[in-house]
Amino acid sequence: MIARRSESNLPPGPRVPKTMQTIGWWARPTAYLERCRERYGKRFTIRMLAQDPFVLISDPDEIKQVFTAPADVLYPGEGARILEPIVGPNSILLLDEKAHMGQKRLVLPAFHGERMQRLESVITEVTREQIASWPRDQVEPMHPRMQALTMEVILAAVFGLRSGPRLDALRLALTEMLEFGLSPLSLLPPAQRAPWGLGPWAGFVRARARADELIYAEIRERRDRQDDGGSEIITSLLAAEHEDGSPMSDEEIHDELLTLLVAGHETTATELAWALERLTREPEVLARLVAEIDEGDGEPYLTAVIRETLRRRPVLTQAQPRTVKKPIEVGGITYRQRVHLVASAWLVHHDPDIYPDPYAFRPERFLDSEPGTYTWIPFGGGRRRCIGANFAMLEMAIVLRELLRETRIRAGHAGPEFTIRRAITVTPGHGAETVLTDRAA
Ligand code: HEM
Repeated sequence: MIARRSESNLPPGPRVPKTMQTIGWWARPTAYLERCRERYGKRFTIRMLAQDPFVLISDPDEIKQVFTAPADVLYPGEGARILEPIVGPNSILLLDEKAHMGQKRLVLPAFHGERMQRLESVITEVTREQIASWPRDQVEPMHPRMQALTMEVILAAVFGLRSGPRLDALRLALTEMLEFGLSPLSLLPPAQRAPWGLGPWAGFVRARARADELIYAEIRERRDRQDDGGSEIITSLLAAEHEDGSPMSDEEIHDELLTLLVAGHETTATELAWALERLTREPEVLARLVAEIDEGDGEPYLTAVIRETLRRRPVLTQAQPRTVKKPIEVGGITYRQRVHLVASAWLVHHDPDIYPDPYAFRPERFLDSEPGTYTWIPFGGGRRRCIGANFAMLEMAIVLRELLRETRIRAGHAGPEFTIRRAITVTPGHGAETVLTDRAA
């Protein structure tokens, strides 16, 4: 009854069977959205198998209404429940209302400007080591290289670990867990993942148990050492206090650390891969960027290149879906329970009314004007905005700067790389194939 009432006034959308809509959504993540927009306008409803309806919105005013809705009306955490086996029940990603704000308040200080600045030298050090080990003068998919780099960076930033057996074991366990997290299997309900306790799900459970053991050991040792001097994120969480003055529990710290490792690794790696995919196909942009880096006198163009990469190739094509808990009016339509409202980064970023010639890669767009809060949303918005946005921008700047200082880059093959979906991210179809040549040579 509720379902029918709530669906009766939804914006129009494709009428083909749910199976077809599900295939379109998964197999053609960006083209399908654009086709729907052409046909139905800036908001439309998609109906997929075993899911309540998704309403995609891309009008900046409507995006603002969704991002600023009261916390008890829209629940982004609920839609992310599928991640619980990876990040744990206390994760900031899965919570809503007071519980969410409580955790966010505890985690935010770890990302304050001063701490970020102190992390800069560690990120630079890790980046230089990684770049030195990358092959030269051959076609190389850079996405896996960037994944390895961002994994080292996040491990160093979160734990301060740079070498040793615990780091090696943790890296291995996390890589195995994330491999599973990116496979379509991870999207199945738990009961259907591995009825016989075999296969990738069982492998995931083993990797998760190993990661848990290592992370809890690290938390306990740090508590015992009363180690609070480092810039790494774990020290900030150990020092954080709930509103009643109590410290975070080991379980809370564990879940938030895993959340940061998961949320901060693949996203940044893929965005860096897209940056190379774009730069190697835009000789004028690349030349201007290299000239600015060589001059060493400020980096406004580098910032603009990163912003334009995030606009043109958002690794997450949308903000977290917000599940309607209490009726809400957005853009003149009242949405009721069981509907998911989705702010589409892909569509708003490719709207010619907002970005003239939207498919052109033109960092100059961001040279004289700051990105708009509701028109540039690669990091989502409102109280759920990505906590690691500044960290990711900093890391991207360091990696691009170091790489372009050391090497010349060119595309591994002609033509742009198509987009493919890996679970919730969209990545370059050939892994961002690039040839690196030492500049010194
Ligand atoms: C280029 C890299 C990244 C992109 C594109 C990205 C994008 C996003 C997006 C779209 C959201 C959902 C926001 C919303 O629905 O309003 C999000 C949430 C989040 N991200 Fe990121 N992210 C990136 C890097 C990072 C990093 C480096 C970290 C941490 C080290 C991180 C931690 C988080 C967390 C904890 C949340 C949940 C925030 C909440 O629910 O309150 N992300 N991110």
